[in-house]
Amino acid sequence: MSFLELAKDRFSVKQFTDRPVEKEKLDQILEAGNIAPTAANKQCQRIYVIQSEEGIKKINELSACIYGAKTVLMIGYDSAEEWKNPLQEGIHSGDQDASIVATHLMLEAWDLGVGSCWVNYFPNDTVAKAFGLPESEKVVLLLPLGYAPEGAEPLPTHFACKPIEDTVKYL
Ligand SMILES: Cc1cc2nc3c(=O)[nH]c(=O)nc-3n(C[C@H](O)[C@H](O)[C@H](O)COP(=O)(O)O)c2cc1C
Repeated sequence: MSFLELAKDRFSVKQFTDRPVEKEKLDQILEAGNIAPTAANKQCQRIYVIQSEEGIKKINELSACIYGAKTVLMIGYDSAEEWKNPLQEGIHSGDQDASIVATHLMLEAWDLGVGSCWVNYFPNDTVAKAFGLPESEKVVLLLPLGYAPEGAEPLPTHFACKPIEDTVKYL
């Protein structure tokens, strides 16, 4: 599959079976995240793999969007390590770095037949505290991972792509 075919094929999985993600696949997914570009190559991203019974229970209590996944990646960054733009007050790279890493993870997972869903719907600070993260670490998103049931389809929103002219302008 070409990259464009892969990107078009992927959709958010919002129901997972009990089939665990194989360790070799998880390692490969994490490797794809590890080689993602980051500002000034500072690699401020932090990825926590939640798989323990206790961790999965806790994350389900804090987000309604885990969808039965048995593996959840909690993705964020260390604000002490992010790049800070010296030319523009307040512009820091942590959110962008974590998002690029997450995109690599999501697409590599799909390439291996593993579904995921990018999840922002959770209380970020409460989640960080509940998992005992250091003060300097921010949680940006959750990425439940796993296998969709046979015949799973994307939600209609998946197909609601704006015409490219609406979002791309040539100057
Ligand atoms: C930044 C971001 C935040 C999202 N947050 C959530 C979320 O909290 N819960 C959820 O079920 N889906 C979430 N999604 C999934 C989107 O709803 C989904 O990507 C979008 O509707 C397009 O569908 P598709 O991924 O199937 O192409 C999020 C996606 C992105 C990119």
